[in-house]
Amino acid sequence: METLAILVAAGRGERLAADRPKAFVELAGEAMLLRAARAFEEADVVDGVVVVVPEAESVLTRTLLEPISKLTRIIPGGATRQESVRAGLAAAPPDFRGVVLVHDAARPLVDAGLIEAVWRAARDHGAAVPLLPLVDTVKRVRDGVVVETLDRDELGAAQTPQGFRRELLERAFAEAERSGAVLTDEAMAVERLGFGVVVVPGTPRNRKLTTPADLEWAEHVLATGGEAR
Ligand code: CTP
Ligand code: MG
Repeated sequence: METLAILVAAGRGERLAADRPKAFVELAGEAMLLRAARAFEEADVVDGVVVVVPEAESVLTRTLLEPISKLTRIIPGGATRQESVRAGLAAAPPDFRGVVLVHDAARPLVDAGLIEAVWRAARDHGAAVPLLPLVDTVKRVRDGVVVETLDRDELGAAQTPQGFRRELLERAFAEAERSGAVLTDEAMAVERLGFGVVVVPGTPRNRKLTTPADLEWAEHVLATGGEAR
């Protein structure tokens, strides 16, 4: 095996406030987790898929992901996203030396093209992250007052999947743990080592679905087959 995807789906989806954990909420009749997993199933470069879910959903997940032939393990998640990612990474075979792709199930409209672009950059450079350019002017604020306007050309919003050589990601996590750093994504751990994380273009379609309005947006994108804005 050379490339392993870790799909984190163990969050509760508090901001969505549905009747079940977010990854199991359906989008045009199909659970977000299944949609996300299918993109990795379709990406030829991916060999295996580890999914991290709330412990209570393990049995349901096995049934739901029946169509995913690359499904390798179903792992119970932790209290934070970071803990869930680490639980998924720990499930990689000990001798695995390839590329790990960490993806949020909350981005169910990811596609094989983006997965392969991240994979290629991670294979060639060690670490890669998809970034979406910002459209708004961004300001740094302190105590309700603007301190400065940032140069938008130097900024971007990070998406997933984020790709890393396994040993690099584990070294980065170990260092982050030693120093007690709170990570908001995996790339941040690698950046802290001083390692250059390569950027690939993100896509508007690969938006993270957080609120009911995001869900409506995604339903609309699927219904119209149209381009996401
Ligand atoms: N996640 C996870 N384990 C956690 C928390 C989050 O695996 N303890 C996953 C989520 O399932 C999601 C991704 O991390 O796929 C991004 O998190 P987010 O969008 O914040 O999802 P939730 O934490 O479920 O939503 P909320 O913060 O609104 O509760
Ligand atoms: Mg969350």
